[in-house]
Amino acid sequence: MPPRRILVTGGAGQVAADLVPVLRKLHGAENIVAAGHETQPSEAVRDGGPFEYVDACSYQAMERLVRKYDIGVIYHLATILSGEGEQNPGLAWNVNIGSLKVVLDLALETNVDQVFWPSSIAVFGPAAPTEDTPQQTVLEPTTMYGVSKVAGESLCNYYNIKYGLDVRSLRYPGLINHKAFSGGGTSDYAVEVFIAAVKEGHYTCFVDSDTMMPMMYMDDGIKATVDLMAAGASDLSVRTSYNISALSFTAGEIAAAVSDKVPDFTYDFVPDFRQEIANSWPNSVDDSVARRDWGWSPEYDLQALVEVMLREIRLKFGKSN
Ligand code: SER
Repeated sequence: MPPRRILVTGGAGQVAADLVPVLRKLHGAENIVAAGHETQPSEAVRDGGPFEYVDACSYQAMERLVRKYDIGVIYHLATILSGEGEQNPGLAWNVNIGSLKVVLDLALETNVDQVFWPSSIAVFGPAAPTEDTPQQTVLEPTTMYGVSKVAGESLCNYYNIKYGLDVRSLRYPGLINHKAFSGGGTSDYAVEVFIAAVKEGHYTCFVDSDTMMPMMYMDDGIKATVDLMAAGASDLSVRTSYNISALSFTAGEIAAAVSDKVPDFTYDFVPDFRQEIANSWPNSVDDSVARRDWGWSPEYDLQALVEVMLREIRLKFGKSN
């Protein structure tokens, strides 16, 4: 049997920049189709295999792509993140839920039989426990991004129960990476701090120094994604979305860890509207169900993350400070 072809939407985005090269290595470059909407993809994603422009909210456009390449698996990463979502809640709902509905319906009509869709720690709101937030707890998000993720998780679960569709999902923490930068996220400060330290020597952080949320180095996020998709279907007890956890640190702690390694780096904290979003999310989540069901465990601690991020960001911007 020829390998199943895989479509990755959100191809110009933060997660795809790391996931697409990994999938191309695993399954052959010609079998991974990355698809983005308007924004410029990284060179590696655009030139390393098939790349297409598509509006993931358009059933017709997505169907054309899925049939053209005889797609069997979709990683549906296209999304509007939390900060941008609060500036434009209507857009966040339409893109996040509209495109997910397109992907799920398309899967029922075509040869697609497995779908990955990212959820987020943003499904939790102020009513959920803040520390070690359990897999199952009250979900009352106070952001449109979180609202769309809760609705999307329920939709995934529904398509699994009603139609037997093999949909799998992770509640990503803030993802820290260096290949392509997210736009409009609340956890972005944990990436911006590295870029600012290397390029400017100063960072003004948009949340307070004692703000804490669950975070993860991107390689661990990609490992979780690939491992979840490879797990035996009968091992999976969760078809909404799995909690996964790696690190929790405050904005002050990450800035201090960077400053230990970058001489003369200075920083301050000037919270903007994203402070309220960050305050509504947990400090840490309990991922014991993911560990039990499919053997999840992360590799990067804070020290390893700071080392690899500084090395890569310095290389990227040609700096040696
Ligand atoms: N990283 C995302 C954001 O900040 C959360 O899933 O919006």
